[in-house]
Amino acid sequence: MATRNQISNSNRSGRTGSDTRDRSAFSWSDNAPVLIGVAVAGAALGLAANFGRKFVTQAVSGVSGDWDEVLATEHDMTVAIFDKMLATDSTQTWKRGMLLMQLTHALDKHAHEEEMVIYPALREANETVDADHLTEEHGYIKTFLYELGQMGPSHVAWLDKVREFRTLVVQHVKMEEEQVFPHFKQSLSEAQNAKITSLVNKDGFWQA
Ligand SMILES: [Fe+2]
Ligand SMILES: [Fe+2]
Repeated sequence: MATRNQISNSNRSGRTGSDTRDRSAFSWSDNAPVLIGVAVAGAALGLAANFGRKFVTQAVSGVSGDWDEVLATEHDMTVAIFDKMLATDSTQTWKRGMLLMQLTHALDKHAHEEEMVIYPALREANETVDADHLTEEHGYIKTFLYELGQMGPSHVAWLDKVREFRTLVVQHVKMEEEQVFPHFKQSLSEAQNAKITSLVNKDGFWQA
């Protein structure tokens, strides 16, 4: 027979011992289906927003036309970020941090497109020396990003480092736009160029 205390404890909790076991930290609550529904809807919305962002981001470079024009537009956008960085002073640490993030994302996306499509296509066309040289420079571009991150935005040498970095990128871009890309584009048929444009846009979309 249950004692008065046991009955009153059971009434207070409003459930039996087996109910309590079922509702351990690892079991689903009654609201679980609703919460899962909300989470799935949220994830779908997030995914849709992400796709929207990707379309907008890639549209900016993709609208430019052929693959070399797409890449040249991205070069211009990158140089514009450098110029904004150079216009800052050491008190604008937040702005410097944001611009460095923007630069990192722009360079990552761009390097991915070139390293996954353009440079392999160059090697396929026996332009291995140029492809390897440009790949090596991408490595130094990442080194600059690392150094700026380590240095911190208020460092006295921050602007000098950004200036040195910009010089390397401009020289790299010049080699691509004035020598390697025009020569390569001319050597390809219209269909081959169209295929490369589509591959660059697809890669850029996933990296956006
Ligand atoms: Fe490059
Ligand atoms: Fe490039």
